[in-house]
Amino acid sequence: MQSTEKKPAVVRMSDDPKKMEFTRSVLFDFHGVQMTKYFTENWEKIQNFQARPDDILIATYPKAGTTWVSVILDLLYFGKTAPERHTSIPIYERVPFLEITFPSMDSGVDLAENLATTPRLIKTHLPIQFVPKSFWEQNCKIVYVARNAKDNMVSYFHMDRMTLTQPDPGDWNTYLHRFMEGKVLFGSWYDHVNNWWKKKQTYSKLHYMFYEDMIEDTGREIDKLCFFLGLSPSAEEKNQIMYGVQFDNMKKNDMTNYSTFHVMDFKISTFMRKGKVGDWKNHFTVAQNEEFVEDYKKKMKDHTLQFRTEI
Ligand code: A3P
Repeated sequence: MQSTEKKPAVVRMSDDPKKMEFTRSVLFDFHGVQMTKYFTENWEKIQNFQARPDDILIATYPKAGTTWVSVILDLLYFGKTAPERHTSIPIYERVPFLEITFPSMDSGVDLAENLATTPRLIKTHLPIQFVPKSFWEQNCKIVYVARNAKDNMVSYFHMDRMTLTQPDPGDWNTYLHRFMEGKVLFGSWYDHVNNWWKKKQTYSKLHYMFYEDMIEDTGREIDKLCFFLGLSPSAEEKNQIMYGVQFDNMKKNDMTNYSTFHVMDFKISTFMRKGKVGDWKNHFTVAQNEEFVEDYKKKMKDHTLQFRTEI
């Protein structure tokens, strides 16, 4: 008799993270972008992923607010009919990470293919040139979230420290320079945000959001998102979503705070870390800031794309 039991993800392989061994991955040049084996090993399957017209892709540079927007979308679509999802299924299973391939864990492609929901919500950190072509062919809706470079980098630094499969971040000053050179996983922040921004000019089904706007007025940004998606939640539903996605509530919720994802060492840092605009001020020295801003001006030539580093 065949078992119908679902194969557990590696992240639940052991209840005791100490019993699990992880190796930090090494960056290499992959078609001009710094990548690691965990996001390239399944490349053919990733590239051949068959998107459906009603799939929604959540695309971001790592640490831009992916999880926040993923939870919002999940609640918008399924919060009314299946509210238990929010307290029983980790967000990385509700919204699979397309390009991830960890040993002994269902790959992101497998998880996405097996999603029983309509629409399927799928997450990616891929730079635009790597997005599987079926998403464009099927004219899928895409929600892109961007975050200012300085806070994005700080968040990524802490993520790399605590995620034991990420490349070793080194010290802060080394990391800052590596980030400026695009020598971090998924490559250059500058290229990522700019190329997705350019795409928005020609692809109408792309909604480009900013983390800082979400912090400033989450309700307003949810309204804009709903307009893009063609959704009209009731005032009560919207209030419930707003409550569920408050920083403190997501931090307390094991299904959104990544505490079940055992490749992360929460003794080093937490996934729901600060959730603020401007934390970069606690990390950059005056000299580092000057150097960073000088370099930023050279790289960010498109003045239609503006980020706020404080609100
Ligand atoms: P910090 O490390 O600055 O705290 P991603 O989901 O793309 O990995 O992004 C993670 C970042 O988004 C973290 O930033 C995390 O705290 C922040 N974040 C997640 N949910 C949030 C929320 N509800 N409100 C504000 N920030 C949130």
